[in-house]
Amino acid sequence: MALDLPVTRPLHLEATRPVKAHGASKSTSSPFVTTSRVSAALALAGLARQCGVLRRATAVKKKGVRVVEGKEIPWNLFSPKAPYKGSTVSKETITSKTPLVNWETCHVIMDHGGKVPYIEGQSIGIIAPGPDKKGETPAKIRLYSIASSAPGDDEKNNTVSLVVKRVVEVAGRGWCEYSNVEKGKDPEFPDAAKVYRGVCSSHICDLNAGDDVLITGPTGAEMLLPEDPEANMIFMATGTGIAPFRSHLRNLFHDRVSKGKFKGVAWLFLGVPFSQSLLYDEEWKEMQAEYPDQFRYDYAVSSEEKSEKNKINGEMWVQHKMMQYADDLWELVKDPKTHVYMCGLKGMESGFAECFQERVEAEGMVYAEFLKKMKKDKRYHVEVY
Ligand SMILES: Cc1cc2nc3c(=O)[nH]c(=O)nc-3n(C[C@H](O)[C@H](O)[C@H](O)COP(=O)(O)OP(=O)(O)OC[C@H]3O[C@@H](n4cnc5c(N)ncnc54)[C@H](O)[C@@H]3O)c2cc1C
Ligand SMILES: NC(=O)c1ccc[n+]([C@@H]2O[C@H](COP(=O)([O-])OP(=O)(O)OC[C@H]3O[C@@H](n4cnc5c(N)ncnc54)[C@H](OP(=O)(O)O)[C@@H]3O)[C@@H](O)[C@H]2O)c1
Repeated sequence: MALDLPVTRPLHLEATRPVKAHGASKSTSSPFVTTSRVSAALALAGLARQCGVLRRATAVKKKGVRVVEGKEIPWNLFSPKAPYKGSTVSKETITSKTPLVNWETCHVIMDHGGKVPYIEGQSIGIIAPGPDKKGETPAKIRLYSIASSAPGDDEKNNTVSLVVKRVVEVAGRGWCEYSNVEKGKDPEFPDAAKVYRGVCSSHICDLNAGDDVLITGPTGAEMLLPEDPEANMIFMATGTGIAPFRSHLRNLFHDRVSKGKFKGVAWLFLGVPFSQSLLYDEEWKEMQAEYPDQFRYDYAVSSEEKSEKNKINGEMWVQHKMMQYADDLWELVKDPKTHVYMCGLKGMESGFAECFQERVEAEGMVYAEFLKKMKKDKRYHVEVY
C-alpha cells in the first residue's frame, strides 16, 4: 500500500499556531474572546503573567479560565449549581436501525449565545431534569465530549454540538441489570421483563428544537490539539468517541478561520458495530477528497468484518484495522511531531500496544519506556472509560 502522506515535511512555516488556530487570524471570530466573563478572567490571567506569576495564576483558580501549558483556556464558566440555560437548535438521529437495542446516536446542536466558549477537545456537562438513578431531580451532570469546533457547526460562535448515544438496556437483549421503566410500559419494548433508559442520553436524544438545555463547563485539557501546525495526528475512536476528533478535524480541514493553516497529516480510525452506525462518514469523505495528501480515514465495522488478529471475538476493531497499515503508522508514531489520540472504549489503549509493541521492541526499545516517553512529550492523549 502506498501512503501518500509525508511523514517529515520540508515546509517552512512562518509562525507557530497561537492559542488556537481557529482564533488566530480573526480575533473577533473567536468565541473565546466574546464573553465578558471570559474576557475578565483572561485579563486577570494576563495581569498575573505581567507580574511574572503565570503558573501561580492557575493555582489562584481564576473563575472561568485555566492555564494549560502556558495557554489560557476557558474552564468551568458554568457550574452544576449555576448552569447556563441554552436552547436546542436541532437534534438529528445520525445512525439507522441495527439489531442492537442501543442503535441510536444523535447529533445535537445547542445555542449557547456565545456564553459558553470552548476550544477543540474539551467537554461540557449536561444536566437532565431527571429523575436520576436514585430518584433525585435534577439529575447529576453527565459529561459529553464536544463534537463541534470552537466556532460551532454554523461557524457563528454561538453553538456547541454533541454526538450522543441513547443508552437503552433491555432484558434478554444484552446486558440489563437495572430498570427505570415500569414493566410493560416501555413503548418500544412492552414485553420486556426489564428496560433501562439512560437518564441523560435519553434527555438529550429526546430534545426538540427550542427546548431548554442546561450546560456546564467547558472542561478538559487532555484532548487538545498541539499548537505546532506541522504536527501529525492519529485519531482512534470507537463510537461516540469520534466527538473530539470531529471537533479537531473541522478545525483543521473545514472552518473558514482555521482551514489551510494545518501543514501536518491526520489519520482517523473509527470503530463501530455496523455500517449503519458509522458517524459523520460523509464529512470525512469530503475532507478526504479535498485534502487527499493530509487526511486519511479508515474504519472498522466489527459485525461485518473479521480479523484473525482479534483474539477476543475475532471481529475487526480499530486497532486491527490499524494493523493493516502498521508500517506506515509506525513511521508516523515514531515521528516526534506525531500525536496519538484515543477516545471511546478503554480497550483501545491495549489495542494501541498490540499494534506497536513488537515494532518498538524490534528497534531495541522497551514498550513501557517508549510509552512513558510519548506521555512525557505530551503526544499520547487518552480519554477512555
Ligand atoms: C469525558 C466524557 C466524555 C463523554 N462523552 C460522551 C459523548 O461524546 N457521547 C456520549 O454518548 N457519551 C459520552 N460520555 C458518556 C456520558 O457521560 C454518559 O455516561 C452516557 O450518556 C450515559 O448517561 P445516561 O445518563 O444516559 O445513563 P445512566 O442513566 O447514567 O446509566 C448509565 C449506566 O448506569 C447503569 N445503572 C443504572 N442504575 C444503576 C445503579 N443503581 N447502580 C449502578 N449502575 C446503574 C445503567 O444500567 C447504565 O448502564 C462521556 C463520558 C465522559 C466521562
Ligand atoms: N471522552 C470520553 O471519554 C468519551 C467520549 C465519547 C464516548 N465515550 C465512551 O466510549 C464508548 C463508545 O461506545 P459506543 O457505544 O458509542 O460505541 P459503539 O458504537 O458500540 O462502538 C464500539 C465499537 O468498538 C468495538 N470494540 C469493542 N471492544 C473493543 C476494544 N476492546 N477495543 C477496540 N474496539 C472495541 C465494538 O466492537 P464489538 O461489536 O465487537 O463489540 C464496536 O465496533 C462508550 O462507553 C462511551 O460512553 C467516551
